[in-house]
Amino acid sequence: MSATSIDEAKLEAFMGQVVSDMGANISAPLFIIGERLGLYKAMAGAGPLTSREIARRTGVAERSVREWLRNQAAGGYVTYDAESDRYTLPDEQALALADEDGPFYVLGAYDLIASLYADEQRIIDAFRSGEGMGWHEHDDRLFHGTERFFRAGYKAHLAQEWIPALHGVQEKLERGAEVADVGCGHGASTVMMAQAFPRSRFTGYDYHEGSIRRAQQAAEQAGVSDRARFEVVSAKSFPGGGYDLICMFDCLHDMGDPVGAAAHVREALAPDGTAMIVEPYATDEVKDNLTPVGRIYYGASTIICTPASLSQEVGLALGAQAGQARISEVLHKGGFREVRRAAETPFNIVLEATGV
Ligand SMILES: C[S@@+](CC[C@H](N)C(=O)[O-])C[C@H]1O[C@@H](n2cnc3c(N)ncnc32)[C@H](O)[C@@H]1O
Repeated sequence: MSATSIDEAKLEAFMGQVVSDMGANISAPLFIIGERLGLYKAMAGAGPLTSREIARRTGVAERSVREWLRNQAAGGYVTYDAESDRYTLPDEQALALADEDGPFYVLGAYDLIASLYADEQRIIDAFRSGEGMGWHEHDDRLFHGTERFFRAGYKAHLAQEWIPALHGVQEKLERGAEVADVGCGHGASTVMMAQAFPRSRFTGYDYHEGSIRRAQQAAEQAGVSDRARFEVVSAKSFPGGGYDLICMFDCLHDMGDPVGAAAHVREALAPDGTAMIVEPYATDEVKDNLTPVGRIYYGASTIICTPASLSQEVGLALGAQAGQARISEVLHKGGFREVRRAAETPFNIVLEATGV
């Protein structure tokens, strides 16, 4: 590379992006610290505060809080008023950083991101061997972080928009229906549906034992264990039949044999049953997925989803950005006659598969 081939303006712009990315990356553990110590919550709705006031409210050392605040201010997560030496968490930021049950909460994602560092060597080995890495083999924070990352979206959209967008499903659930949640992980979606539709019965299935244990606890804590139960079993062999609704939340693309899983889901449905497949938001063309959201999903897909699928039988490795056309092809191969997009958000597409 000769010095004359370098476009100085492009180099400067790229280095600007690199510095900004590096700032975001080094701030990731500080987001976790802010969450764990209740720093964001202490600032939410409180107006301008000094570092001493925040330290007093949270019972932590002022000098550490002061340094943390300066990182947060440099990143635009809090604002700083030099004259009064006070820091403010704006209301918009508070929705994303302090409202744990709200639809904009983002900090759960950082547990997921932290887990990836712990698994770095395993993934490097998997890149070399091509053999993948099972979902269940990851650092524990992945399971917890995934639940927390997706929960905000489920809470905002699942009962309010996604189920009503399916043909005739809400009425069945209100009357009392049989529902399976396949690949349910920690069961956040199962528990939410059980809360929204108390006359229906829900069974969450997942091949990962640790996740199923956690899902059972979550159902007990939410007071829905009378109608939400969980079982350790793979997507291709869960028991029962005649389900009115079978859901798959962000897991079909993680499976080694998604066609086999789709075929089993189809067989387990009642003749007029519906499958709801929630997948990460993606378009059908790689070039159109090269967006900020696509960047996040391709990252997760490289380290989590693609290796997870490669580690299982068939190893189709759809990846987290498969897109509607590819996912529909899988569902058609599994025997569904009709597949349509019922809903979407910036993070998810929701497909309805019918025609058993
Ligand atoms: C990204 S997580 C999503 C979990 C949950 N549905 C959610 O939305 O929070 C993918 C889940 O698929 C499960 N999974 C992967 N392959 C599976 C298989 N072949 N059978 C059953 N579950 C599987 C994993 O154990 C994991 O819990």
